[in-house]
Formats: sequence, structure tokens, C-alpha cells
Amino acid sequence: RLISWTPEMASKEGYPHFMLKEIHEQPFAINSTLAGINEKEFDNVVNLLLNSRKILIIGAGTSYHAGLVGDYLFTTMLGLDTHALISSEYKKYVNAVNEGDTVIAISQSGETIDTLVAVRAFKERGAKVVAISNVIDSAIPRESNYVLYTRAGPEIGVAATKTFTTQLVVLTVLALRAGIAMGRLSQDEYRNLMDSLNKVPGLLQNVITKTEGKVKALSEYMKSRNNAYYLGRGIGVPLSMEGALKLKEIAYIHAEAYPAGESKHGPIALVEEGYPVVFSILDDDNVDALLGNVMEMKARDAYTIGFVPEKYVGKFRELLSVTFELPNIDYRIAPIIYIVPMQLLAYYTAVARGYDPDKPRNLAKTVTVE
Ligand code: G6P
Repeated sequence: RLISWTPEMASKEGYPHFMLKEIHEQPFAINSTLAGINEKEFDNVVNLLLNSRKILIIGAGTSYHAGLVGDYLFTTMLGLDTHALISSEYKKYVNAVNEGDTVIAISQSGETIDTLVAVRAFKERGAKVVAISNVIDSAIPRESNYVLYTRAGPEIGVAATKTFTTQLVVLTVLALRAGIAMGRLSQDEYRNLMDSLNKVPGLLQNVITKTEGKVKALSEYMKSRNNAYYLGRGIGVPLSMEGALKLKEIAYIHAEAYPAGESKHGPIALVEEGYPVVFSILDDDNVDALLGNVMEMKARDAYTIGFVPEKYVGKFRELLSVTFELPNIDYRIAPIIYIVPMQLLAYYTAVARGYDPDKPRNLAKTVTVE
């Protein structure tokens, strides 16, 4: 019997969709980012950061969320004056940017017009621009002073997956190198964090193997919901924003992320029995506050889903409808791992609802018109 393969099927390497293939490729993609680090270019960028008055990180969609993680690292770990900004909102900062400031423009395609327009405006003001991109010699890298490539390989699925985690890797390496150069990190701290980062591909492989079945089962619950909240604190906020965006863009379920402390200031009014609330528990500092936030949702009969480090599972299990045990790893590195089961959740929920996750309605992989 003849089995007919289309070229498209072949390039999916047996996966039903590019998105699933690209989610599974992340351990390799991250290895390739780490292996492809251009020492000289990183040194140049670290130097630039050390001599910058102010740093703006710009991006759209998923790249903006990576920018928020970068902002968190640069601000908390390095004490640098950093702001992440949605590219299309660049006008707010035009008058506040001058020579001596640095703009980091994140764009997987390197072609997003909103980001390109912002790059041009900030360059005109005298800022130096560093591009972080997955596409060699695309427009934004070409117009930037420095370029750091993610080297994740081509991403076909419209929803960004491996380009997001590899953007986080680049930003983390940059923050760690700047940390040592500034004396903000000791040699030991630097080495420990780099060791953790180098362990991410292996850990991620295990996380995918361990969580995929459970995520699939959860998607059977999610598929009939109309709303979800994604909550975290600290570095868990941009992580939650990215998790929520994935669910929105491919499963077409309204999902909102906000800092968990804000529930009582409005959003909790919507919570009723069965309302899905996804918690990301990342850092020791926020564990107790988050425990309180899970309790307040549980008290309203919310359907509580938690991504929790192994060491805290005991604290949370009783309060969670579904618990995902994730590796204990420094919270500054954890988002690279934590986002992956959320990508899978969006993927399986989209499939369970009968949608094609590779081609979400109304969305384009790269938006080159304003
Ligand atoms: C589009 C895509 C998003 C992406 C955004 C930014 O809206 O649908 O997935 O995050 O553009 O793309 P970029 O190539 O600049 O990272």
C-alpha cells in the first residue's frame, strides 16, 4: 500500500503540527543558542550596557514578554535603569531617550514593522540599538548597532514558542555576564547560574516527557471554558502574560494575566465555580504571598492549576485542582522551563476545540504593516 507524504508532512517530522514540533524542539534550540554565543558581540553589548544611562527593551507580542523578563533581570539583578515597552507605544519615550541610552529591540523575525519604526525613532535620538533576533540579516538586525542571534532554527507555527525560550536564554546570558562585569554577581553566583542555565535543555526534556499527558488531560477541561486567569508575582508576571497570550491566540479562550496581588482590586469579582486560574510559583520570596492568593481563589471554588517547584508541592497540593511538579531551579532561569507546559496547554486545548494551532485566525507570523 502506498503511503503518500506531502513535503509539508515531511518537514513536520511526524508531528501533526509545526507548533508541537517546535515545542518539542526547545531543548535542542536552547542548546544551539548556548553553543552559538558570539563572545565578542556579547562583550561589546555588556560594555554598552555598563556605560548606558538608561535601557529600553522593545518588542511586540511574545517578544515584548521576553523583554519584560529581561527588564526584571536587569532591574533586580543589575540595578540598571531599565524599562520594557511595547514597540507600538514607543512615542511615550521618544523625548526621554538620548545619546548614552541603549535600546534592545527583540524580534524573532526581525521584520515586525512596529519594532522597526521604534528602532528608527530611537536611533534618531542618538540611542545605540542592540537587536535580538532569530533571522540573520533581517531588517531590524541590519539597522542595529549590535546583534545577538537566538539561533533557534526556523519557526513556522504562528505562535512563537522556541524563539521565546531562546530569547530568554540570550537575555539571561547577557544579564549574567553584565552581572559579573559590574561586580553585582560573585564568581560563584555567576558559575552556579550558568550551570543551571546549561542544565535547562536536559531538565526541559524531562518536563515535556513528564507533563505532556497531564496537560492533554487538562485540555479536556479547558476546552469548554470561556475564560482563564494566569497569575504570578515578580518574574512570574511576564511568564503568566505569555501563557495567557498562547491560550488566546490559538485556542481562542479569553485569558488574562495580572500580578496575583491585584485579584482583590477587581478581577476576583469574576471568579465563580470552575473558573480556571493558572498559578506560576517561582521564587522563594513570593511563595507565601502566592499561597494566600491560591487560597482566595480556592475559597471561590475556582479551578486552580499550579506550576510548582517540587520543593513546594506539599504546601500547595491540597489547594490545587491540578498540580504540575516542576524542577527546583533558580527563579531567574525557571521561566524558560515553566512556559513550556503552558505552551502545551494552549496547543492541546486548541486541538481539542478543533482549531489548527499553526494557522490561528486573524493572525500573521510577521506583521509588516503598521
Ligand atoms: C506577530 C506574531 C506573534 C509575535 C509578534 C512579534 O504578532 O503573531 O507571535 O510575537 O508578531 O513578532 P517578532 O517577529 O517581532 O518577534
